[in-house]
Amino acid sequence: MNPDILLPRFNRLSAHRQGHSLRVADLMVDLAKVHGLDPVAAHLAGWGHDLARELSRAELLVEAERCGIAIDIWARQEPVLLHGPVASCWLHAHDVGDMDVYEAIDYHTTGGPNLGVLAKALFIADGVEPGRDFAARENILRKAFSSLDEAFRDLLEETLGYLSQRGLTPHPNMMAAIEEVTQGGNA
Ligand SMILES: [Fe+2]
Ligand SMILES: [Fe+2]
Repeated sequence: MNPDILLPRFNRLSAHRQGHSLRVADLMVDLAKVHGLDPVAAHLAGWGHDLARELSRAELLVEAERCGIAIDIWARQEPVLLHGPVASCWLHAHDVGDMDVYEAIDYHTTGGPNLGVLAKALFIADGVEPGRDFAARENILRKAFSSLDEAFRDLLEETLGYLSQRGLTPHPNMMAAIEEVTQGGNA
């Protein structure tokens, strides 16, 4: 179905979030061209990934329950972790997108092991779109056009460093992703 069915959800987001989502979508299309991905799916993943990002903690928990999303102890403590799975549930419910798009949106916050190419691209695009501001951003962005795997690894390591500086524990999906890429098992 046409993604326009989700436009009311998109239009409810703040201008700041809409701008971010559109920049991620643009970057996804650019990455898709270089890496041979479906540009329509790439754009949709970028456009839709944060559709549920501005729900309240309570709303996220309610929507996750309604969607049948497993709410683990991490998500119970930090319901913001559910905003990807809830957004992909909305797309799925309207028959918008495909399994690659849902996986990408599901894992865009934490990354994860064994991710498909579109999901790696979204994790990277979300992290290094031009509105982001951190020292390694441009390097990782540049690298994403030559190797998604290398950019994925670099961004995971960057994120891990950021979390540890703040005394925060990384999500198990992120740890599993780090383990995978540092073992060199990322084909
Ligand atoms: Fe997000
Ligand atoms: Fe985002």
